[in-house]
Amino acid sequence: MKKITIETPLEIYDTIEALPVLIQDLFTKAQTARNNAYAPYSHFKVGAALLLENGTTVAGNNQENAAYPSGLCAERVAIFHAGATHPNKVVQALAITVQAADKTVNTPVAPCGSCRQALLEYEIKQDAPIAIYFRGETGPIYKVPSVASILPLAFDKSFL
Ligand code: THU
Repeated sequence: MKKITIETPLEIYDTIEALPVLIQDLFTKAQTARNNAYAPYSHFKVGAALLLENGTTVAGNNQENAAYPSGLCAERVAIFHAGATHPNKVVQALAITVQAADKTVNTPVAPCGSCRQALLEYEIKQDAPIAIYFRGETGPIYKVPSVASILPLAFDKSFL
């Protein structure tokens, strides 16, 4: 028997001002997207913004549905939007912010498992890491260097 440990490198920024200006701007885009989220059932709004290699940003927010599973998370709305409209541009970074109706979320909220899987597809396709920055509504910001770093032992095309 062999035992190994898989580690995730995590950078923690105490304030938004501690981030590079490009990423601060990306959070502004994510916040605008978050405010436009369609979340009448959960009242939990999520905004995601992607920074592409040419400086373009692409945003997404959660889109809910009366048939609950038919809705989609903000991160997947954003990455599918980028895949559809900028298919050959490398995605360099993703910023995520959330807002709950009944409390102030001040702990960082990471993308769900399904979004990690969807994002990984594009990280592999472009053969370059997507840095992910995520926060609550306020409070610290976490940065991970890639999608793969938060989806260890992932399923990918090599298995097909
Ligand atoms: N949600 C996201 O948009 N991203 C995530 O990573 C987790 C959850 C959305 C889905 C749903 O509209 C609401 O948050 C509550 O789960």
